[in-house]
Amino acid sequence: MSPGRLLLSCLLFKETLALSGSFWHITDLHWDPTYRLSDNPELVCTSSSKRPALRAGKFGDYVCDSPWHLINSSVYAMKHILPDPDFIVWTGDDTPHVPNEDLGEEAVINIISNLTNIITEVFPSTKVYSALGNHDYHPKNQFPPAPNSIYNRTAEMWHDWLDPESKETFKKGGYYTEKLLNRNGFRMLVLNTNLYYDQNKLTLDTDDPAGQFSWMDRTLTEAANNKEKVYIIGHVPPGFFEKKRSKPWFTSKFNKHYVDLIKKHHSVIVGQFFGHHHTDSFRMFYNTEDLPIGTMFLSPGVTPWETTLPGVVDGANNPGIRVFEYDTKTLLVRDVVTYYLNLTHANAVTERWEKEYRLTESFRVPDASPASMHRVLERIATERCYLQKYYDFNSVSYDLTHCDNDCRVDHVCAAREIDFEKYEQCVIKEGAVSINGGQLLVVLSVAVSIVAAGW
Ligand SMILES: *[C@@H]1O[C@H](CO)[C@@H](O)[C@H](O)[C@H]1NC(C)=O
Ligand SMILES: *[C@@H]1O[C@H](CO)[C@@H](O)[C@H](O)[C@H]1NC(C)=O
Ligand SMILES: *[C@@H]1O[C@H](CO)[C@@H](O)[C@H](O)[C@H]1NC(C)=O
Ligand SMILES: *[C@@H]1O[C@H](CO)[C@@H](O)[C@H](O)[C@H]1NC(C)=O
Ligand SMILES: [Zn+2]
Ligand SMILES: [Zn+2]
Repeated sequence: MSPGRLLLSCLLFKETLALSGSFWHITDLHWDPTYRLSDNPELVCTSSSKRPALRAGKFGDYVCDSPWHLINSSVYAMKHILPDPDFIVWTGDDTPHVPNEDLGEEAVINIISNLTNIITEVFPSTKVYSALGNHDYHPKNQFPPAPNSIYNRTAEMWHDWLDPESKETFKKGGYYTEKLLNRNGFRMLVLNTNLYYDQNKLTLDTDDPAGQFSWMDRTLTEAANNKEKVYIIGHVPPGFFEKKRSKPWFTSKFNKHYVDLIKKHHSVIVGQFFGHHHTDSFRMFYNTEDLPIGTMFLSPGVTPWETTLPGVVDGANNPGIRVFEYDTKTLLVRDVVTYYLNLTHANAVTERWEKEYRLTESFRVPDASPASMHRVLERIATERCYLQKYYDFNSVSYDLTHCDNDCRVDHVCAAREIDFEKYEQCVIKEGAVSINGGQLLVVLSVAVSIVAAGW
C-alpha cells in the first residue's frame, strides 16, 4: 500500500471512530425473588405458576422469571462487553409474572429499586433513559392517567437520571423528554405506552390519557423547528405480536393515534426502541407511497420466562442484551449487536455470554436504516435461509425449529404492518403464497438476490 493510501485509510478510520457511538438496550429483566433450587420442580419459582421447572439451575429456568444470579450476570456481562457506553436504554418490566396478591406497591417499588441500584452500581457515571413497563405498577397494567404515588416514588428513585423538568412530567404521566446527553440537536422521548395497553382499564374511555399524545405532538413539532434528531423509547409497542396471529397490545384507537403521530413526524424520528415481547423483532413504518420511513427495534428480554399466552407454543427465550451502534452526527442506527446467555449451557457447564449476531453481517445490509431494515424484511419474506435465521434469533437461539409458512406469515405481517386493517390484509395476501411453492416467489427471490449482489 502506498503511503498516500495508508494515510487516507487512517483518516477514514479516525473519521469513523469520531462519528460512531454505542449504547446498551436492556429490557424485561423480570426479577423473581422467590426463585430457589428445590427438589420439587413446582416450587422453584412463583412465576412458573405451577408449571414444573425441569431445567432449573443457578441461572434460571425457561418457565421462570430471572433469579438474582441471572440479573447480576447480565449487568456484569454488559460491563465486561462494553464498559463505557454513551448511555443505557432500559425499557422496563422489572417484577415477576405473578398474581397481584403476591406483590403490592411496596414489593413493586422494592424490585424496581434493587434493579436501579445494580445498574447504578455497575455503571455509576452512565446516563440511563428508563421507561416503565406494564409490570412496573401495582396492580399490574393499571397505569393511571394522573399523578400517583408510584410515579412519584419512581421519579425520586431515578432522580440522578432525570432533569428537573423530566421529573415533573414523569410524576404526572410517567413520560419525559430531554436533550440526548445534553447535546444540542439531539433529543430522547421516553414514553409511558402502558397507558395505551388494552389491559389498562383506567384509560379505555379516554382519547389522550395523561395528555401524552398531545405532548408528543408538541414536542416533536418543536424538535422539527429546532432541527433536532429524536429517539423514542417505550415498553409496550404498537402493532402485533409476531408469535400469535392477530394479537395486538394497544387498543385500536390508540394504535391508530400512535401510527399517525409517527407518520406526521417521521422526518425527525431516527429510531424507536421498545421491549415487552421478550423476543427479537422489529417493526416497519411506511409512508403513503410505501417507502420505508421508520423502524422500531424490539429488543429481546433478559428473563427466559415461557409466555403463558394461549396459542403460543414453546414461547421461551434465552436471556439477551443488545448494543446499538449509531452515527453520533445523525443518530442513524449503524448496526445492532445482540449478546446472549445459552441458559442450558450456563446451568450445565459455565456462564458464557456470547455474541449471537451482528445485523449487518447476518442480513447483508450496509446499516440499520429504515431502507436497510426494509431490505432485511423482504429477504425474510422471500428467502427461506433468511427467514430461518431471523426465526432462530427471534427466540434468542432458544427455539431452533423450522419456521413454516404460517410462521412466516405471522412474522412478516407483524413486522410489515402496524395498522390493524393493513395487518389483516397482509395475512390474507401472504397466506396465499408459499415461500417454497409459488413460482412468483421463486422469481422474486432471484430478483432480490441480484439486487443484493449489486452493492
Ligand atoms: C455478580 O457478578 C460479579 C461478576 O461476575 C461477581 O463478582 C459477583 O460476585 C456477583 N454477585 C452476586 C451477588 O452474584
Ligand atoms: C434489595 O434491596 C434491599 C433493600 O435495599 C436489600 O436489603 C436487599 O439485599 C436487596 N436485594 C438484592 C438481591 O440485592
Ligand atoms: C406526589 O409528590 C408531590 C410532590 O412532589 C406531592 O405534592 C403529591 O401529593 C404526591 N402525590 C401522590 C399521589 O403521592
Ligand atoms: C446451548 O447449549 C446446549 C447445551 O450445551 C446445546 O445443546 C445447544 O446446542 C446450545 N444452543 C446453541 C444455540 O448454541
Ligand atoms: Zn415483560
Ligand atoms: Zn411487558
